[in-house]
Amino acid sequence: MAAAAHRARLRSRAAPLLAVVLLAVLALTALLRASRHDFVPQPSRAALAGGGGIAQRKILLDPDFTPRLPRQSALSASLSRRNALPPRNAGGRFGRLPDGHLKIVLYVHNRPRYLRLVVDSLSRVDGIGEALLIVSHDGYFPEMDEIVQSITFCQVKQIFAPYSPHLFPDAFPGVSPGDCQGKDKAAEKNCRGEPDQYGNHRSPRIVSLKHHWWWMMNTVWDGLEETREFDGHILFIEEDHYIFPNAYRNAQLLVDLKPNKCPQCYAINLAPSDVKAKGEGWESLIAEKMGNIGYAFNRTVWRKIHAKAKQFCTFDEYNWDITMWATVYPSFGSPVYSLRGPRRSAAHFGKCGLHQGQGSSNVCVDNGDAAVQLDAIDKVPNIEANWPVHIIQRQEGYQAGFKGWGGWGDKTRQGNPPPLNCLGDALGA
Ligand SMILES: *[C@@H]1O[C@H](CO)[C@@H](O)[C@H](O)[C@H]1NC(C)=O
Repeated sequence: MAAAAHRARLRSRAAPLLAVVLLAVLALTALLRASRHDFVPQPSRAALAGGGGIAQRKILLDPDFTPRLPRQSALSASLSRRNALPPRNAGGRFGRLPDGHLKIVLYVHNRPRYLRLVVDSLSRVDGIGEALLIVSHDGYFPEMDEIVQSITFCQVKQIFAPYSPHLFPDAFPGVSPGDCQGKDKAAEKNCRGEPDQYGNHRSPRIVSLKHHWWWMMNTVWDGLEETREFDGHILFIEEDHYIFPNAYRNAQLLVDLKPNKCPQCYAINLAPSDVKAKGEGWESLIAEKMGNIGYAFNRTVWRKIHAKAKQFCTFDEYNWDITMWATVYPSFGSPVYSLRGPRRSAAHFGKCGLHQGQGSSNVCVDNGDAAVQLDAIDKVPNIEANWPVHIIQRQEGYQAGFKGWGGWGDKTRQGNPPPLNCLGDALGA
């Protein structure tokens, strides 16, 4: 009896309290809605991007800096939710990824004919079933999605950059009304934007690859549950890189040999840094400048790269690789070598550039047929542990001091200060 009366008293006291709490929650929700105009503040971004799956792990370079990110669309929000899905094919035969396996990140835009070829080449790679393949998309293109969904030869996970300009056809980070275009003079045209060092305004299509690369790096190293604790090497390939059957085993060999054979090497590469070269064919390992085809490095190296986020994000150059060669690597203080074999295990193919073949006009059509000729020696591991290392000291190409090809001058839209689409990834991925 006493207990029942006590409960009743509690109920009668709890009711007004409950009403107050409810009202407070409603008021707060309304307030939050009203304050959300063009941009959502940083904390919401982590929640949106992850849907819970991508952990928020901030590496604050500048604690006073709060990136403000664009408001997500229904499409970008739905893709963010997909980013949190676990890998497919993770049961059965591919259930346990063995020690010493590599993660492979394939970054793509919208060249389905090429992607088909790359996926087909991957299906014949010896050892691929031991890897986790992550396909990182710049934009959403159903055909690209379908091709990845059809993969049955390894664990595979898809991620989509939630702030790709390709997801925002008429708003930042895409082109929004009032943006300056080409060589517009802001004062004359009464448009918004800051030109690059050559007087050109930001072109979302042109800058998206560098943004995507940086987002992908931040996401796989520090964001995704599947990779953020991984202490091995992650191998990066692109949608126009044909992968040879021996690529995975060769990559593992190079990773194993690197500490002893080339302690000054930061990475391993599947191909020479000259994208057209097939390799020297010598009986020797080669250490040369880091190339952009099939490169793999570990978290220690990522930390060094990440510490240069400001340089990466503010250098007036729209190519991620030229940005690395001209600013990030030189800032490490000593030459950045990468170890590779004397024959390539991956090859760049095709003649459609990244910025071709995406608009409705001037679609670049190329099947990439007969892209790559494979010899018998390319189908088996062809690196020997007892080979010496030949160091190519002369590093050709872009160097410290190069001032950049531009395209990346719009500080308020992609550099400093907010809204930052580049530094923001580094801080809140
Ligand atoms: C990662 O690679 C670098 C460069 O090869 C090496 O110095 C470092 O010891 C490696 N870190 C780990 C944790 O293996």
